[in-house]
Amino acid sequence: MKVLITGGCGFIGSNFIHYLLKKYRSIKITNLDFLTYAGNLANLKDVAKDPRYQFVHGDITDGKIVNRLMSCDPDVVVSFAAESHVDRSLYQPSNFLRTNILGVQVLLESARQHNIKRFIQISTDEVYGSLSLKDKASNETDPLVPSSPYSASKAAGDLLVKAYEKTFGYKTIITRSSNNYGPYQFPEKVIPLFITNAMADKPLPLYGDGMNIRDWLYVEDNCRAIALLINKGTPGEIYNIGGNCERTNIYITKTILKLLNKPTSLITYVKDRPGHDRRYALNISKITRLGWYPEYKFEERIKKTIAWYLNNQDWIKQVKTGEYLKFYKKHYKI
Ligand code: NAD
Ligand code: DAU
Repeated sequence: MKVLITGGCGFIGSNFIHYLLKKYRSIKITNLDFLTYAGNLANLKDVAKDPRYQFVHGDITDGKIVNRLMSCDPDVVVSFAAESHVDRSLYQPSNFLRTNILGVQVLLESARQHNIKRFIQISTDEVYGSLSLKDKASNETDPLVPSSPYSASKAAGDLLVKAYEKTFGYKTIITRSSNNYGPYQFPEKVIPLFITNAMADKPLPLYGDGMNIRDWLYVEDNCRAIALLINKGTPGEIYNIGGNCERTNIYITKTILKLLNKPTSLITYVKDRPGHDRRYALNISKITRLGWYPEYKFEERIKKTIAWYLNNQDWIKQVKTGEYLKFYKKHYKI
């Protein structure tokens, strides 16, 4: 199987590449990544010389490079590439529109022209917007009510997928997953930020009243779901991938502090994120009918995640100091 992955140097993409290389002996993976601040070659250091894997530096909005890779005839394209952090989208929205909308369109256009049979667009539960405690979990057919420039750009990407289906008959699978956690997650997202701050005895900035709810999914569960959809998903369909694990932010915060044996006095309530969605929850019955369910329990996997950060302090240092970006500037002229 030949797989073209975009955004493979980020958190979920790098976990997915590790997952595929472990699962399939006979596989060829090409990873197209622009190496933004969120893309880290260190995430794939251990597989960089694996003959089944190649890295290509490039931008998904660049039709030339995208066409070159699509003409290599991949059996499947899995597109993770995105600007992914809600807070950054509040002050740098144009980057989000460029990659998450224009980038998706460039990929779709090239994939349909090259007649790529399987294309998986990685989207998010945030496109359904905020739920109240009384609301039912979101279904794949629910309207898109995004709140932030990030989620609006992801929703626009999803709408382009649907437009390509209707106008050109080109069918793409969309996945909408809930909040992932696990190794290699950039410490701007709440779990790695709070773990690494607590490790350094720094304050944990909790937004608003700390009662917002997210549904937590261990990243390997997501990888298994995406791999399943490569084989069993129906082109043209949307699949929610959730952890069945709704937790408040204050619960997450106290759990991290307890496991690291740090005091709750590190919790610092700060001004709320503008437009902060209160709750996300996913109805995952559609994908469970294909035989997938979230295997990992949060209370067990958060321990493993903390252990990963404790054992990878060089990675944390490199990421927090931005040392890798200096390397990119020199070698990739970014
Ligand atoms: P990430 O920010 O960790 O990684 C994004 C990757 O995309 C980076 O390697 C970056 O260099 C690359 N990239 C950015 N712009 C690019 C461009 N123009 N061309 C090529 N590469 C580019 O993101 P993540 O958390 O791994 O998320 C991956 C995907 O999953 C995203 O599409 C995101 O919307 C979606 N998602 C993430 C979560 C989550 O909890 N992290 C949950 C649901 C959905
Ligand atoms: O739901 C899926 C989405 O999950 C993905 O589409 C996004 O790419 C991913 O970034 C994530 O978005 P969130 O906004 O939910 O994740 P974040 O880690 O930024 O925040 C999780 C919760 O924690 C949210 O309610 C805001 C809160 N938070 C976050 C940060 C960074 C804090 O209280 N303090 C913080 O410093």
